[in-house]
Amino acid sequence: MTDLHAHLRSRLLDAIAGLGVERTAAESCVRLEPPKNRDHGDVALPAFQVAKLAGKAPPALAAELASRVTADDVVESATAAGPFVNFRFRRTALARAVLGAIQSGAAPYGKAAPNGQVVCIDFSSPNIAKPFHIGHMRSTTIGNALCRIHRHVGATVHGINHLGDWGMPFAKMMTAYMRWGNEQELHAQPMRYMFELYKRYGREVKENPGLDAEAAKHFQALESGADNVERRMWQLLRDESLKAFQGPYTRLGVTFDHITGESFFEDKMAGAMQRVTASGVLEQSEGASVVWLKELGIKEPCILQKSDGTTLYHTRDLAAAFYRETTFHPTRILYVVGAEQKLHFDQLKGVLTKMKEPIAAAVEHVPFGLVLSKTDDGKWEKFASRSGNAVFLDEILDEAVAKVRGVIREKNPDLLGADQVAEQVGVSAIVFNDLKNSRIKDVKFDWDSMLQFEGETGPYVQYACARLSSILRKAEAPVPAVAAIDLELLADAERVLLTMMDFGTAVQKAAEQSEPSHVTGHTIALAGEIHSYLREHYVVGQEPRIRDARLVLVDAARSLLATGLGLLGITAPDRM
Ligand code: ARG
Repeated sequence: MTDLHAHLRSRLLDAIAGLGVERTAAESCVRLEPPKNRDHGDVALPAFQVAKLAGKAPPALAAELASRVTADDVVESATAAGPFVNFRFRRTALARAVLGAIQSGAAPYGKAAPNGQVVCIDFSSPNIAKPFHIGHMRSTTIGNALCRIHRHVGATVHGINHLGDWGMPFAKMMTAYMRWGNEQELHAQPMRYMFELYKRYGREVKENPGLDAEAAKHFQALESGADNVERRMWQLLRDESLKAFQGPYTRLGVTFDHITGESFFEDKMAGAMQRVTASGVLEQSEGASVVWLKELGIKEPCILQKSDGTTLYHTRDLAAAFYRETTFHPTRILYVVGAEQKLHFDQLKGVLTKMKEPIAAAVEHVPFGLVLSKTDDGKWEKFASRSGNAVFLDEILDEAVAKVRGVIREKNPDLLGADQVAEQVGVSAIVFNDLKNSRIKDVKFDWDSMLQFEGETGPYVQYACARLSSILRKAEAPVPAVAAIDLELLADAERVLLTMMDFGTAVQKAAEQSEPSHVTGHTIALAGEIHSYLREHYVVGQEPRIRDARLVLVDAARSLLATGLGLLGITAPDRM
């Protein structure tokens, strides 16, 4: 919340109290939003909830509030429009509050004070011994952005990598390695090599279905807890995979607070099973232990233990939920996992709900759509494989960087630190493209459009930042304090200032709805507004009073764009 919002909010609460409504009851009902149409005002209050409290019709209440919130040195006007009240701030107050807060790093532009929330974010979580594919990239970028966004709004965040390092999929990989593997080749190119083995398993199991039984045996041996060949093999493959994943994680600027994969819950599943049994919801079905969830509208039961005694993906997620509950006391647990696992998370939440576990309420699946690529005949299809070959994230990042390097060589051959800029811009283009639209939508992976320097792209926003940095360099004057400039001179920067004012709302919505696209959208809007402003307003070469006022604006825009990009996990180069 900016100072403007805080001021208006308190004026509104006074006005509402004047209508005889209990102040504490009104507090949660006063939510100021950007109006649908900026011509109507700077912020709007939807009056529905307050009207309910006051026992009046929303339009009548809106009119009453509009007349009670009279002009002062912050609020210029209040007008009712149906069930909404639209407010306009005085332009100097707007500039002072927004630019002052950005300059001093006050919330919402800087990190907010603790908001009392503890958010566990389960993200990335690739399966080891399988390629780090494009689906995991989405979970990684969305989860990384959500960690940063929640920290910004004041939550205590636990970013968790729930690695797939246990269970049958892993046992199959291990079986392939034990049959055909070679340690030298593994060390030379771990991910590629494991992927070849994984494919070979897929081919051979068709001829020899006995392989699956062999894998099941190996898994049993692994789960026995004994120090055996399987255990050593598990350690080797896990170490190699983690080392290989570190490459893309570093390039994407991703870190985790906890790398607690499925194997971490090995010794916690028995306890979890006891808890399910004690709650009385566990049933036997064809030798397996299951929880039926029909009464919750879920047709398929959640299987927690197979007839051979081994556990499943669900068992580990259940143990993980209990572990997180006692270790972190989370208010929310976000599982950033593709939409294709909806049933899995419905079942997980279902079991906890049926057990009457309070943590059930915290469990939230944060699904997202697929990545699509264009076929030769122009159709979009799932970006799974190119001629049966997995697409490794590292290679995609390399390709993006190489393309950007080519553009730089052509357009700006003398650029300082060109390789580093190419890395920043290339990687960010992919991340930005991923976070641009509402996450549930499929992402179109198309080099040409995501690498454009115009339009809604990462390079466009980064370029805006670099351009602002360049103005600050060329101005040959330091950026003055907000208090030292004539704010009247920024009267025609109102669109830039209003967009800056909306930042807090965008970040708040992103946190509440697990939707980084609100932040992406804000960076695009701000880059667009400052570009248009600068088309008609020069900074360099202007008389000092004008130059100084504009310098403050330019510096604030640069800093806020960098903050927004930072929340998305993207860096802002000073030159490009
Ligand atoms: N390893 C899983 C996969 O690749 C994703 C795990 C997501 N997190 C979880 N707690 N289930 O499909």
